[in-house]
Amino acid sequence: MRRVVLGLAMAATLGSHALAQTVAITPPIAPLLATADPAAGEAYAKKVCAQCHSLNDGGKAIIGPNLYGVVGGPHAHMAGFNYSAALKAKQGLWTYDELFAWLTKPDAYAPGTRMAFPGIKNEKLRLDIIAYLRTLSHDPAPLPTPEVKAPDVDQTATARNAP
Ligand code: HEC
Repeated sequence: MRRVVLGLAMAATLGSHALAQTVAITPPIAPLLATADPAAGEAYAKKVCAQCHSLNDGGKAIIGPNLYGVVGGPHAHMAGFNYSAALKAKQGLWTYDELFAWLTKPDAYAPGTRMAFPGIKNEKLRLDIIAYLRTLSHDPAPLPTPEVKAPDVDQTATARNAP
């Protein structure tokens, strides 16, 4: 269910305004990412993800590919790494939403993946890790801004709150 909803959120990010109503009920990843704690994500990544992934610029593949620059990069982003067909078949970029889905349950996101990792159940930790992965770049991708307004906003309430 959640994956379906995330798919819709992605479609909306890609510009489908028709889905705006549906998107209003999705997990609000943009504001959540804004409050995520990259330091907590880093601590976890260095303990767990780093068993299989180097995190530094130009780092070598271990069991998995180097993760520097993965946020906003293409799927299967490391040149020369022997990715599974499942991951190579994924189109498009690693957006925040895609990473959120991937790290929830890798083998549900990409059935047949070689990443032998069950996923991270804790949503806050998942966001912390994504916020950390974002920093692994010379030019970190901008944080997403909430594009979708809450439906049926009371105009008078908005006016009252105006400065
Ligand atoms: C047991 C080893 C292992 C662990 C632990 C692991 N990974 Fe992976 N990871 C892999 C492998 C192998 C792949 C390549 C998967 C494929 O080709 O299907 C991968 C792929 C990825 C990718 C896709 C990279 C790309 O270039 O498209 C991301 C992102 C990723 N891992 C993030 C993480 C994060 C974040 C963690 C920690 C929460 C983690 N991984 C933990 C082995 C691991």
